[in-house]
Amino acid sequence: MVGVTKTRTDEIAKAVAVLRDGGLVALPTETVYGLGADAENPAAVARIFTAKGRPPDHPLIVHLAGAERLADWVAEVPETARLLAEHFWPGPLTLVLRRGRRVSPEATGGLETVAVRVPDHPVALALLSAFGGGIAAPSANRFGSVSPTTADHVRAELGDAVDFVLDGGPCDVGVESTIVDATGDVPSILRPGGVTREDLEAVLGYSLAVDATGRVPVPGRHPSHYAPRAHVVLVDPERVVPEAELAQESGRRVGVLLPTAYADTPVKAHAVTAVPESLIAYARELYAMLREFDRLECDLVVASLPAENGLGLAIANRLRRAAGPRPAH
Ligand code: TXA
Ligand code: MG
Repeated sequence: MVGVTKTRTDEIAKAVAVLRDGGLVALPTETVYGLGADAENPAAVARIFTAKGRPPDHPLIVHLAGAERLADWVAEVPETARLLAEHFWPGPLTLVLRRGRRVSPEATGGLETVAVRVPDHPVALALLSAFGGGIAAPSANRFGSVSPTTADHVRAELGDAVDFVLDGGPCDVGVESTIVDATGDVPSILRPGGVTREDLEAVLGYSLAVDATGRVPVPGRHPSHYAPRAHVVLVDPERVVPEAELAQESGRRVGVLLPTAYADTPVKAHAVTAVPESLIAYARELYAMLREFDRLECDLVVASLPAENGLGLAIANRLRRAAGPRPAH
């Protein structure tokens, strides 16, 4: 055990050195892997956008070691934000607040707000504590594609574009954090994620709107995002098997995300994966399942949406995005 601990300490020290040097570190979080840079170093933050192929006006999340650091990074901490931070940090909740002077404008895409969160992962927290500052980190994937939930996914997708990869094992939650706009009196959910709407409402004591209007020009809200290479089509659960077989017969290489109720149904398709029964396991495995369809060179994935409560809201959101129209580039 001492050896393991020492290796980890060495790795954290190396990662801190890379960050201080303006480099990029891939770090595990409980949601997905992030591609991190010093949030106060504009040149380092700019490298994130290059590595991801992400448009520069799309804001990043600044990761902090603890809720007590929040006041350093935002202009003010409204009561609601304080309450949510207290209940859900460390954890898969991102708060959008009015930005403080410390965060580099490159990290916020020029917005007057900043997204902040404290991740619930021992390696991420050790890195953040040792580094001392904020780490700006989007998910460690190429822009628009599926987020990585293992260190191998990161290496496969970003290769040499990242200076150091901290391997913290597979991510526990598997979908990204819930983003809550907490700038106004009434918070709204900008992106469903690992903290459920029901959890938030229980703490707040009132119902929340899910702002799906896409008015804020930020990524993750483009119609196509979180998308595998294969084209994704969504159908009603009872149509998954027939639609998949029809497409397979017509010469497509079809991957099937089989709804739990049909888990024992034989399907004539290229690749078949039964959706895990629990939403927690489904969220954890969703991106790996989509990546596996790509690895098996499926050109079409047939799936259906889970009921949109609990983690089902985030899973359905990601599946809809994966099935959305692709940008023309
Ligand atoms: O779980 C997560 O949130 C992961 C891990 C690495 O922390 N990060 C992540 O980052 O998903 P990214 O960049 O892939 O998604 C961040 C989302 C984007 O959709 C971005 O538009 C939104 O956060 N965002 C960032 N700053 C914002 C702001 N000031 N106002 C509104 N949305 C913002
Ligand atoms: Mg992302």
